[in-house]
Amino acid sequence: MTEDRDVTASTSRCGDVAVLVPAAGRGERLGPGVPKALRELAGVPLLAHAVGRLAAAPSVGHVVVAVPPGATESVAELLTPVVSGYGVGLDLVVGGAERQESVARALAAVPDRYPIVLVHDAARAFAPPELVERVAAAVRAGGDAVVPVLPVVDTIKRVDADGAVTGTVDRSVLRAVQTPQGFRRAVLAAAHRTDSDGGATDDAGLVERMGGRVVTVPGAEAALKITRPFDLRVAALLVEPDAG
Ligand code: CTP
Ligand code: MG
Repeated sequence: MTEDRDVTASTSRCGDVAVLVPAAGRGERLGPGVPKALRELAGVPLLAHAVGRLAAAPSVGHVVVAVPPGATESVAELLTPVVSGYGVGLDLVVGGAERQESVARALAAVPDRYPIVLVHDAARAFAPPELVERVAAAVRAGGDAVVPVLPVVDTIKRVDADGAVTGTVDRSVLRAVQTPQGFRRAVLAAAHRTDSDGGATDDAGLVERMGGRVVTVPGAEAALKITRPFDLRVAALLVEPDAG
């Protein structure tokens, strides 16, 4: 986290970015319990870890969170102190049945003055502020959409219906995609209007389908997606002040 502090201290707040945080999922793969975004690590809900890191990024002026049904009041109490120290605005909307619907509802709540919109999964609670800045800078540099990516480290096989291997994929042309993903606001709005069937797992995918140009920037290992119980154990290592 040392790096995080450096960025915050050395860059003046530019505030042209609003971040949408879909956080309304149930976290079924994490097992029984409260919705995933409200599960705690070191006594702090994942959503507060996530929003704290977003608000620390100097470009971010506003955050809109899509919350699980019934959680609006408790999330407002949780996040207001997290954003207010940074002077970052906060809005909450109730999420939809699918992630795409949650993103669309959050997008509709973004104040007009933000030309750049990032979408960031609450489940990637430890994405560092540097990553937010990298994505925002690439949108300013002219990308329709920007995705942070990591190289694929595993060998990838194609298999048939019985699980027998039918081939090995050339992994040098593959990348694993993370969030935050960045957009010119008008591009994201058009993508959601054009493709509103609710099934997309990735917002840049909507822009791709529209024929937009999607560019990549280097991702961050700390931005891992917390999906299963093992991921929570890995993420616990990132709570340490000097982890990174
Ligand atoms: N999400 C959302 N609204 C939904 C479904 C998902 O806002 N209807 C959010 C989740 O809260 C999460 C992000 O989208 O921050 C990525 O989804 P995922 O990791 O799949 O989270 P869950 O849907 O909560 O987990 P699961 O699929 O295991 O139930
Ligand atoms: Mg899900």
